[in-house]
Amino acid sequence: MGNVDFATGAPLRSGTVPVRPYIDADYYEAERKRVFGRCWLNLAREEELPAPGDYLVKDLEVLETQVLLVRGDDQQIRAFHNVCLHRGNRLARDRCGNARGFMCNFHGWVYDTKGQLRELPDEDQFPHLDPEKIALKSLACHIWNGFVFVNADPEPQTSLAQFLGEMNGAFDGFPFADMQLTAFYHAEVNANWKLVGDALQEAYHAPILHRQTVADAVAGPDNPHCHLASMRLHGDHHGLSVHGNLHHQPTPIEQIAFDYSASPIYPAPAAPSDSQAPGVNPRRESAWIFDINVLFPNFHLDPSGTWYGTYHLWPLAVDRTRWEFRIYMNPPKNAGDMVAQEYTKVFGRFVQREDLSTVEATHEMLRSGALTELHLSAQEMPLLHSLEVLESYMQGRP
Ligand code: FES
Ligand SMILES: [Fe+2]
Repeated sequence: MGNVDFATGAPLRSGTVPVRPYIDADYYEAERKRVFGRCWLNLAREEELPAPGDYLVKDLEVLETQVLLVRGDDQQIRAFHNVCLHRGNRLARDRCGNARGFMCNFHGWVYDTKGQLRELPDEDQFPHLDPEKIALKSLACHIWNGFVFVNADPEPQTSLAQFLGEMNGAFDGFPFADMQLTAFYHAEVNANWKLVGDALQEAYHAPILHRQTVADAVAGPDNPHCHLASMRLHGDHHGLSVHGNLHHQPTPIEQIAFDYSASPIYPAPAAPSDSQAPGVNPRRESAWIFDINVLFPNFHLDPSGTWYGTYHLWPLAVDRTRWEFRIYMNPPKNAGDMVAQEYTKVFGRFVQREDLSTVEATHEMLRSGALTELHLSAQEMPLLHSLEVLESYMQGRP
């Protein structure tokens, strides 16, 4: 647990960051176009659309649009702006379902699952239109490890693989597809999206903010300030491994919850398997609890040995964010697993409430203008990195 970026050997950096990107409305307006309008954004898991015709509608408020994800007969998942080409009505009205096509509720234009216009009522009255030549406005859509990403840039500057860079193969072999959505929590919070994300990508706060929940599991006497087990920067993205306290004494309720099932939330003293994905706990720390991977700009992918979690921080305004947290686990094999998973879901919710408990007050106080900069420790370097990457997009890097 030295002050070093374990991916590159470069020293960790502490430093100051400006307050303006968190509170300034003009900065936010530019961020919408220069960052969210250009980056690959994760919207779904492909298991959410298992069959041809399955579709999902996703709000993308930050780009003032709604995205229709649909699996075609050719099994490919495509993404479209959910807008009818005729006069702009919202096309799909349900949030999800299965359809052979989509009929606009205004004048009845019909599109197939590939976005092609199939029926144009009273076609003769549109002599300027060749219905075979028009299709729904698409967004670039690619899948990585089962995660469905879209890019709203009409001409994306990078492929998804290029965008992910060194993260690309890091999770090969991780059993994402075997796990199922076990819990989904979401909330709208009155804070900038980066403040919410920042609270979820450092462990410095764990001994204090989480003193009633996970503090003892992550910060024992040998690591009182919860230093990270390792940290690595991968281009625009980064990964952290959170240290686990092998001497954690289960509370009475934890003893009951995990009596007949391996605990999904605490480290086991067994050495981690070498068969796990190369980017998951890459240093094979034995005192390890889970990883935090921040895929710029707003997607966190947090794998553990037996589960994984995701966060999405969706900006709604400069001072408002939709926070989404999902937990995925293996299907329970018996009642013991069910009890352990149920406890983990409920316990996880308490921890999340703690994590969110400071962000609104922080935003309010930053808005006061009393501070112009914030001080980050070397352990908080991920925040520094995220802001530096953000700034490079804001400066319009190619
Ligand atoms: S707006 Fe969709 S058919 Fe007219
Ligand atoms: Fe936390």
